[in-house]
Amino acid sequence: MKMDFGFRDKVAIVTGASKGIGAAVAEILAAEGARLALVARTPKHLEDLAARLSKTYKTEVAVIPADLSKTGPADDVAAQALRVFGKIDILICSAGSSQGGVFWEVPDETWEAAVQLKFLGTVRMVRAVLPAMRRQQWGRIVIVAGNTGRQPHARLLPGSTTNAALLAFTKGLSEEIMKDGIHINALQPGPTRTEHWDTLMANLSRGTGLDAGAFESEFMKQIPMGRVAEAIEMARPVVFMASDLASYMTGRSIIVDGGWTKDLA
Ligand SMILES: NC(=O)c1ccc[n+]([C@@H]2O[C@H](COP(=O)([O-])OP(=O)(O)OC[C@H]3O[C@@H](n4cnc5c(N)ncnc54)[C@H](OP(=O)(O)O)[C@@H]3O)[C@@H](O)[C@H]2O)c1
Repeated sequence: MKMDFGFRDKVAIVTGASKGIGAAVAEILAAEGARLALVARTPKHLEDLAARLSKTYKTEVAVIPADLSKTGPADDVAAQALRVFGKIDILICSAGSSQGGVFWEVPDETWEAAVQLKFLGTVRMVRAVLPAMRRQQWGRIVIVAGNTGRQPHARLLPGSTTNAALLAFTKGLSEEIMKDGIHINALQPGPTRTEHWDTLMANLSRGTGLDAGAFESEFMKQIPMGRVAEAIEMARPVVFMASDLASYMTGRSIIVDGGWTKDLA
């Protein structure tokens, strides 16, 4: 039996779409025939990706620049996607960034940035697409959280606590929206080679006497696979959770971390 993702002609909004995990998700969705609305702050990055995806995969790709750390733009994104495509089937939330450090040296701004973008940006985006999904009694939402939500890390507390909040949000909301045919699940990535990760390594290595590369090699010793993942290795499970292949799954998360997280689930 051939497996079908069920994406042909589905409309997907991907946030954080211009780089890293979001861009890799957008590429698979485009390849599988979905129509896309790509969201991030920098128009040029979005436009370059949209031009490449629409040419390569012959699918419709819209660009919606927005700063999701602010109140308001999420509603505009949903409204614009509806104007262009007439419906919203899938939402992938991959806009996020959180930095770390020694707890007593991490300023309020770092905590606020993690909460405003990664947590509230996701909450606002989910709230903005729900009316359209409820009208059609069908929807799929996947949130890119992080494995530190389950395995908090002392030097990554803004991200760890925000990820844990997103897991609670995913589980709690799933019970409310399943009656409208809407599934919501989350991915918990481990270290993944993106701009976000490289910046994190550069910041955490400061003052340790190691450069970012050496610091990363030390960090990798905790991880059974001993390497950083590529973005595509995170995009595949995200796409799975957004697809018909995950038809009996909601309110859950998948940890993809090279074997790092020490638990039994
Ligand atoms: N990489 C990892 O090791 C790792 C591990 C665990 C969890 N995660 C999580 O995975 C998610 C994706 O991370 P990534 O590594 O793929 O990051 P990335 O490569 O740095 O990409 C981040 C994306 O988000 C967009 N973005 C940033 N600020 C935004 C804002 N205020 N409003 C709208 N879009 C914004 C960026 O574009 P613009 O800058 O143009 O806005 C970019 O498209 C994040 O939530 C991250 O915390 C990553």
